[in-house]
Amino acid sequence: FSLKEFNTFGIDAKAKFFVQVNSIEELQEILGNDSYPVQFILGGGSNMLLTSDIDALVIHIDLRGIEIISQNEDTVEIRVMAGENWHQMILWTLEHNFGGLENMSLIPGNTGTAPIQNIGAYGVELKDVFVICEAVRRSDQELVYFTKEECRFGYRDSFFKNAGKNKYVITSVNLKLSKRNHNINTSYGAINEELQKNNIAEPNIKNVSEAVIAIRKRKLPNPKELGNSGSFFKNPIITKEKFETFIKNHPIAPFYKISEKEYKIPAGWLIEQSGYKGIRFGDAGVHKKQALVLVNYGNATGSEILDLAYRIIKDVESDFGITIQPEVNLIK
Ligand code: EPU
Repeated sequence: FSLKEFNTFGIDAKAKFFVQVNSIEELQEILGNDSYPVQFILGGGSNMLLTSDIDALVIHIDLRGIEIISQNEDTVEIRVMAGENWHQMILWTLEHNFGGLENMSLIPGNTGTAPIQNIGAYGVELKDVFVICEAVRRSDQELVYFTKEECRFGYRDSFFKNAGKNKYVITSVNLKLSKRNHNINTSYGAINEELQKNNIAEPNIKNVSEAVIAIRKRKLPNPKELGNSGSFFKNPIITKEKFETFIKNHPIAPFYKISEKEYKIPAGWLIEQSGYKGIRFGDAGVHKKQALVLVNYGNATGSEILDLAYRIIKDVESDFGITIQPEVNLIK
């Protein structure tokens, strides 16, 4: 069974067995079924690189539904099932004038995978609106809940990427959104520029969403047209000492100060400086407009993309003394 349509990189890896689940009960039953001891959970397929065929039962999470759990005059809590497409879900919240997700418009993937790497964009992260998530524990198929603290969210990181890795299947996510007095976040310069260009002085949540969509469409390839997994690497965080040497040698480099001790450097800049922007080897390449994004021009294999990634890591390391790390989940 080809997984090409089920991963945004468009890698033609094969699954030994494949099943789509539409209810939590069905999921629990399959997870507990001894006839298929080796199982692989597939959500939106937007943050993974398949480097080989999968010798397992691939379980595609297709749980659907959005419901309002509680609300008052100011805020609303919604429960979103894991299989709901993230961006379609945001469009639903915007129709209801619920605020909080607009900066994260157009991020590919499904809602159930959003907590795993604490997705974020343009100054907002999932953790800013997250309340709780529900999951099935794979070992005994019990339903369990994780509060925001228990998820241990960090920059593109969570409990589910560390101690909880491969142990749970997230089934739904609860988000707390605003109903009025929306907190409009235009701290990210590019959003302001986009709004000014359109003469919008007092943006509402829909304006912000539209600005984000316009910026993303310009910079980031649409996975339906060009296979990719968004940022392939994380932006590296370096110590103040290392940063001081770095910035002396590269005074024009962009950076963000994270704390008194740490600085974040855009990996896209490092990769571009190392000469990789727009490069192409066979069908594996680096996007022309955003060097942080690796792309599949059609028939690249996962290992061709991975080889390119390793070359980039090595060259960035020798050019800058900074080791960048993949952000996508490498499936070997
Ligand atoms: N830059 C370059 N060359 C490039 C790409 C970027 O010089 O090819 C420079 C830009 O000029 C800018 C800086 O790097 O000064 C930052 O670029 P950008 O605003 O595009 O953001 P980013 O740091 O490259 C991060 C996230 C994106 C997110 C944007 C906006 C990570 C790993 N990536 O990218 O997230 O959309 O900020 O918030 O943190 C994703 O995770 O899949 C993703 C797309």
